[in-house]
Parts: sequence; structure tokens; C-alpha cells
Amino acid sequence: MPTPHSIRESQPGDLTAIESFYPDAFPEEDLIPLVRELLADPAVALSLVADVNGQAVGHVIFTQCGVSGSTVNAALLGPLAVAPAHQGKGIGSAIVQEGLRHQRDAGVELVCVLGDPAYYGRFGFIRESSVAPPYPLPTEWDSAWQSQTLVDNAPSCSGKLSVPPQWQKPALWLP
Ligand SMILES: CC(C)(COP(=O)(O)OP(=O)(O)OC[C@H]1O[C@@H](n2cnc3c(N)ncnc32)[C@H](O)[C@@H]1OP(=O)(O)O)[C@@H](O)C(=O)NCCC(=O)NCCS
Repeated sequence: MPTPHSIRESQPGDLTAIESFYPDAFPEEDLIPLVRELLADPAVALSLVADVNGQAVGHVIFTQCGVSGSTVNAALLGPLAVAPAHQGKGIGSAIVQEGLRHQRDAGVELVCVLGDPAYYGRFGFIRESSVAPPYPLPTEWDSAWQSQTLVDNAPSCSGKLSVPPQWQKPALWLP
């Protein structure tokens, strides 16, 4: 049963709620420093929350990126997290779809993501083999590096995804 919620851009006052559910959503990885750094730079990061009764219970960031040797307007989806008590109710899907809509409206042509293809496939992401991730990934993660184009007749491009400094940390790209 879907939970009534609204999707909106995050506000500074949402940080406490966001930080409260990240450790539950990612018990083996501390992504809070990355989230803080990205939220400090609204020029590169679109941050959306799913709001239930005034409380942020889901969160996603889309970071503006480029592709080396190309003028393509690219973005990186992640992190994405939903508070465990609210998972499985359509909130993750809603926030990703709203984020993709924002990105399309903003002229983003290509969105990349590193994540489970069994989840991201439902949004139209497919394995990406022309645009490389910023750091080499373990072979077993090949299918986890995915993308989708948001425009018709998107120019084909190849190169490496160039990410802003917040993402230029090899540990973020390792198992
Ligand atoms: C992944 C996550 C954001 C999904 O949010 P959600 O609100 O539960 O998602 P939805 O309700 O829209 O979709 C639920 C569906 O996704 C599936 N799903 C959730 N996580 C999945 C995963 N890692 N792989 C495959 N399917 C997954 C569920 O089984 C469910 O399937 P169904 O629709 O066939 O029943 C949430 O489970 C979460 O925060 N997980 C922990 C953090 C995480 O893994 N983030 C993604 C990092 S790449």
C-alpha cells in the first residue's frame, strides 16, 4: 500500500532526519560525510526528500557531472535511501522518478548510477560500458554501473565520468 507522501527539495532543517535514517539504510557504510559535503554545494547537487507528515523519510541526490572528451550534460544518482520503516511502499521509486523528471527538465542528457541492476532496471537504467566510472570498479560490479539517457537522439559519448570533488574519493567506489 503506497504511503501518502510528497517529494520536495530538501531544506537545511531536513539534515537531522536524513542523518537519522542513513545508518539504518547503510549499516556498513558511513555516507553522512558525503551527504553533508554534497548538500553544502547546491550548485552541483539536487537533493530531494520524500516527506511524510512533515518528516523526511527518503532522500536522493543527483550530482552534476561531465564526461571527459565530451560536452554531454551528465548526472550521477546517489546516494538513495529510505528509512527502513518506510521501505517497500513506493517511496524509493517515487523519489527516483521525480529526480529523473527534474534532471530531464534541467537539460541533463545522461544519468549514471552504481547500484543493484535488479532495482535500478525498473527505472530504465541499463549497463553502461562506454562511459567509465571515475575509478575502476571490481569486475563483479560491472553490471552495477548503469546509465540511462533522458533525451531523444542523445549524442553517443565515451570517456570517464568526471565528478566534483565530493565524489573524488576512491573509497566511495570500492566494495
Ligand atoms: C533501495 C531503497 C532505496 C528502495 O526504496 P523503497 O522505498 O523500499 O523502494 P520501493 O518501495 O519503491 O520499491 C520496492 C521494490 O524494490 C525492491 N528492492 C529494494 N531494494 C532492492 C535491491 N537492492 N535490489 C533489488 N530490488 C530491490 C523491493 O524488493 C520491492 O520490489 P517489488 O516492487 O517487486 O515489491 C531502500 O530499500 C533502501 O533505502 N535500501 C537501503 C539503501 C540502499 O540500498 N540504497 C540504494 C543504494 S544503490
